[in-house]
Amino acid sequence: MNALPDSAPGFDQPIAMLKHCHDRIRKQLATLQQLPAHLAAHGADEQARQAAQAVLKYFDQAAPLHHADEEENLVPMLQAVAQGEDAATLAELVPGILQDHDDMDAMWQDLHEQLSAIGAAGGTVLSASTVQQFAERYTSHMEREESRIAPMAKRLFDAAQMAQLGTAMQVRRGILPAPAAGDAVAALRKDYGQDSLNEADVADDPFAQFTAWFEQALAAEVNEPNAMSVATVDADGRPTARIVLVKQFDRRGFTWYTNYASQKGRQLAANPHAALLFFWSELERQVRIEGVVERTSAQESDQYFHSRPLKSRLAAIASEQSAAIASRAALEQCYDAVAMQYGDNPPRPEHWGGFRLVPQRIEFWQGRRSRFHDRIVYALQPDGSWTRQRLQP
Ligand SMILES: Cc1cc2nc3c(=O)[nH]c(=O)nc-3n(C[C@H](O)[C@H](O)[C@H](O)COP(=O)(O)O)c2cc1C
Repeated sequence: MNALPDSAPGFDQPIAMLKHCHDRIRKQLATLQQLPAHLAAHGADEQARQAAQAVLKYFDQAAPLHHADEEENLVPMLQAVAQGEDAATLAELVPGILQDHDDMDAMWQDLHEQLSAIGAAGGTVLSASTVQQFAERYTSHMEREESRIAPMAKRLFDAAQMAQLGTAMQVRRGILPAPAAGDAVAALRKDYGQDSLNEADVADDPFAQFTAWFEQALAAEVNEPNAMSVATVDADGRPTARIVLVKQFDRRGFTWYTNYASQKGRQLAANPHAALLFFWSELERQVRIEGVVERTSAQESDQYFHSRPLKSRLAAIASEQSAAIASRAALEQCYDAVAMQYGDNPPRPEHWGGFRLVPQRIEFWQGRRSRFHDRIVYALQPDGSWTRQRLQP
């Protein structure tokens, strides 16, 4: 008899815990592999029944939790932090690991039927070839995970990530309650590491730098690359922000189109200071732009207005942007009346046009590992030149 106590590692060592699960799987596989010969020699005796029940219990209950630990936590967490060779290793290994899980589940369904009959003292049939395939598949699967995935996790995960994995495993087993939504938000944590931003790499001219990043955002097909937040303040200095689409940028500034009588339009008329923010999450980048807003010329606004689809032009006329209205139906009625009045060629209303933010400060932010981000800020000088500085993260 083995007198050593079962020294299972705790959830504070989740990778060791997953390895311990593998050792238990190996033990159950060894039992399973002895069963066909035992059944042939002794039939479904008490020993066979007990063995069948133990194997059933493990692969019905514990193994699915173990697979879920890997699929829902370990692998996505690794994919979020792995770079270079590690990312390539994951790209090579993960599809096979997931396929193994599916295939082993399917094999287990057959074995489950047969073992249930044996455990209930009814059956004596156990397919030796399915047992063999199942054991071989599991064995090579576990070896791959232990030799390539586990060492990578130990190398890449910091203490907080280990704790996150351990917590997820305990929640899955009902040892810890699932976090409340508020706690889950606080626990959301993504490490950034795609790129860096160096003084030597950035352009001398912030417009050139913005153009380079914008083109990279387009090339990366980020979601809504031209969406930006515009922050303005009211007469008491209280800020409000909303998303608009930048339609043009050049040395003169960053232009979007809107209703001059809207909340933002009125605020900008009283205080032209504003701030823009682009967030290209897929590239782990933000650009913060501050400056003073002016209206585009009537000619520029006309040109853009008439480039818009007819329905958008009619909607711009029909909507008193930011004003209250009784219902959606009332809004539709306004649109129908405008469509009736103007037909196919609505004129640009006086109160609709472009705003251009003329920047005084532009900051480029690149997310880096462990919140040690890169920030380079350009500031406009009285002589029209730009200075450049690195800011602490
Ligand atoms: C992705 C996106 C793009 C938008 N683009 C514009 C835009 O280009 N111009 C605009 O006036 N409003 C746009 N909006 C609506 C604004 O966010 C906002 O609701 C509207 O301008 C009224 O803001 P205000 O009441 O503060 O003036 C957009 C909203 C989203 C989510």
